[in-house]
Amino acid sequence: GKYRVISTKPMPGTRWIRLLTDQDCRVEICTEKKTILSVEDILALIGHKCDGVIGQLTEDWGEVLFSGLRRAGGTAFSNMAVGYNNVDVNAATKYGVAVGNTPGVLTETTAELAASLSVAASRRIVEADQFMRAGLYDGWLPHLFVGNLLKGQTVGVIGAGRIGSAYARMMVEGFKMNLIYYDLYQATRLEKFVTAYGQFLKANGEQPVTWKRAATMEDVLREADVISLHPVLDKTTYHLINKDSLSIMKKDAILVNCSRGPVIDEAALVEHLKVNPMFRVGLDVFEDEPYMKPGLAEMKNAIVVPHIASASKWTREGMATLAALNVLGKIKGYPAWSDPNRVEAFLDENSPPPS
Ligand code: GLV
Ligand code: GLV
Repeated sequence: GKYRVISTKPMPGTRWIRLLTDQDCRVEICTEKKTILSVEDILALIGHKCDGVIGQLTEDWGEVLFSGLRRAGGTAFSNMAVGYNNVDVNAATKYGVAVGNTPGVLTETTAELAASLSVAASRRIVEADQFMRAGLYDGWLPHLFVGNLLKGQTVGVIGAGRIGSAYARMMVEGFKMNLIYYDLYQATRLEKFVTAYGQFLKANGEQPVTWKRAATMEDVLREADVISLHPVLDKTTYHLINKDSLSIMKKDAILVNCSRGPVIDEAALVEHLKVNPMFRVGLDVFEDEPYMKPGLAEMKNAIVVPHIASASKWTREGMATLAALNVLGKIKGYPAWSDPNRVEAFLDENSPPPS
């Protein structure tokens, strides 16, 4: 291979490797056992000659790595993630390195986990599972693990982009919940969907669902029964959910986070969970991964999973493929490889999602 491309982790599937090797690239996959590579580890991988790198969200892609990649002749970097809060895009630009991410292919998979956590929290599925395994079940009782009925309740979405909108649709269509959302942009297609579905329900003699675009995030926090967070993490969304915002939420609300941990002040959340036993959370991400804030692991009203929202086979292979295409596109000068429609069409042809 004429070009040297590094992946800092083994990634699912083989298509991404073939794509690169078919196009003059030699692919080197780091098999280092430790989960999180340091900047020094990655600099050592880059070495003296490297054209492009596929990296992970656990890595700190800033000044040091981009200048190092540049010195090695590299021009391309792709995060294998849609979020890129671990990437200093200004530093990349300064050193002439193009940056890619992997949107589109993880939308539904991530929304499905947020929906799963919402339902698991509302029906206390994890607590009930632990109860069974502990041998505590000694017969059916009218008040054993009573949760909430989602139908007719209000789902609140903070950040109605691709993932937030897909989640909203699942909750509205699947559970007949009303929608309230907050976003700087109007989610026109989502609004149209809820309107049409409401009309359909009404025509069938059922209670129609409704939607509302909130003027402030606080309106969502006050009104919603289930709230799911889907913003990007940046300076404006750091600790978006804190002591004050928690205090205006319903005492028995459900909060779900499949975005980035620092969007929630996790220490404040632990305090809130302690004094509000009816308040429940489903968390996929944590402020200081891989750690949890003290006390969180002991809370029965919290469901915690290890950052697996995009973890379906189809999506992870798609993310790897898209990351490879991002790097290849820059190295070979292809146009618009990261056009999501084109990439989804490519993935559909090559690896149809199970229907
Ligand atoms: C995962 O967290 C991602 O941003 O893709
Ligand atoms: C519960 O199992 C019921 O039959 O109502």
